[in-house]
Amino acid sequence: MTKTYAAITAVHGYVPEYILTNQELETMVDTSDEWITTRTGIKERRILKGGRATSDMGVEAVKGLLEKRGIQPEEIDLLICATVTPDMPFPATANIISDKVGAKNAWGYDLNAACSGFIFALATGAQYIESGMHQKVVVLGADMMSSIINYEDRTTCIIFGDGAGAVLLEANHEGLGVMDSILRSDGSGRHYLRQTAGGSACPASIETVTNKQHFVYQEGKAVFKFAVVNMAEVSAEIMERNQLGPEDIAWLVPHQANKRIIDATAERMGVGPEKVMVNIEKYGNTTAGTIPLCLWDWEDKLKKGDNLILSAFGGGFTWGAVYLKWAY
Ligand code: UT7
Repeated sequence: MTKTYAAITAVHGYVPEYILTNQELETMVDTSDEWITTRTGIKERRILKGGRATSDMGVEAVKGLLEKRGIQPEEIDLLICATVTPDMPFPATANIISDKVGAKNAWGYDLNAACSGFIFALATGAQYIESGMHQKVVVLGADMMSSIINYEDRTTCIIFGDGAGAVLLEANHEGLGVMDSILRSDGSGRHYLRQTAGGSACPASIETVTNKQHFVYQEGKAVFKFAVVNMAEVSAEIMERNQLGPEDIAWLVPHQANKRIIDATAERMGVGPEKVMVNIEKYGNTTAGTIPLCLWDWEDKLKKGDNLILSAFGGGFTWGAVYLKWAY
C-alpha cells in the first residue's frame, strides 16, 4: 500500500482593512519610518477594528478555504487554531470558529506556540491524516496582536499586526504533502518574551492592568539572538536530514518577525532571495498568521511538487521547520 501523506489542498487568508503605517506610528511613539524599515523591514501592518476578534478573522479565512475547495463546513473533521490571542481564555477559539462557520461535525482545539504556532499545528494536524483517523483537517494561524500590544511602547508596537491564514489538509497518495518536521521548545525563553498577567500565575487585577502586565513583554535584543541562530539552524538541519541542497528548494516560507532574521536563515540554507517569501513589509508580524498568509500571497506561484521549507521561531521559546511538497 502506498504511504498516506497529509497534503495542503487549499489555502486562504484574511487581513483587516485598516492599515497602520509607519507614518501613523511616528505620531504615536518616538520612532521613525527609517528606523522601523531598516531594523525590521516593516512598512505597514493591519489592525482589526469594530469590536471584532481573532475568531472573526479565522472565520473569513476558513470560509474562503471551503469555497475554494468546494466543500461544505460539515465535512471538516478537525479544526486546530494556533493562536496566542484567543477570543477568551476558554472556550477555545477553534470551537468558536467551528460554530460560526457551521462545522458541526468538527472537534477542535487551540494550540499555543506563539510565532511557531502554525508549524506546530500543521505538523500535529498532519498526524490525524497520516494515521487515517480523519479526512479533512483545517489548520489555522490567527492572531489579533493589537489586542495585547501597548501602543505607547515603541519597542513592540511597531512590530506586530493582525491577520489569519488557514490551510486544508487531506490525504495524498502521490508522495506529496508534509514530508518531515523538526519541532523544538525551551521554556527558559519565557523570561524574554511573554504576556505576564491574565493566567493562573498572575490573575487579572487592578494592579496588573495599572502595571501594563497584559501587554506583550519582549526583550528584543535577546529574542533576536536566539531567533537568528535557531531558525537558521533548524532550517539547515531539516535540509540535511532530507538530503536537500539549496537547488532542491523551491521556496523558503519563513516566519515574518524581522527581515534580518529571514535573511540570516536564507543565507544559512544557501537559498537565494528570489526563493524566499517575504511580506513583512505589508503585514508586520502577525504571530501564528505569518506563514499561512505567505502561502496565501504566493499561492499562484506555487507548483505541484515544489519543495517548501517552512520555519519559525517565537515565544516559549518555540521553533521548528516543516518540509513539505506542494500538492497542487
Ligand atoms: O516573532 C517572535 C519573536 N520575536 C522576534 O523575533 C523579534 C526579535 N527582535 C527584533 O526583531 C529586534 O530586536 C527589534 C526589532 C525588536 C529591535 O531591534 P534592535 O536592532 O535589536 O534594536 P535594539 O532593541 O537594540 O535598540 C536599538 C536602539 C535603542 O536605543 P539606544 O539604547 O541605542 O539609544 C532603542 O531604544 O533603538 C531604540 N529603539 C527605537 N528607536 C526608534 C527601540 N525601538 C525603537 C523604535 N524607534 N521603534
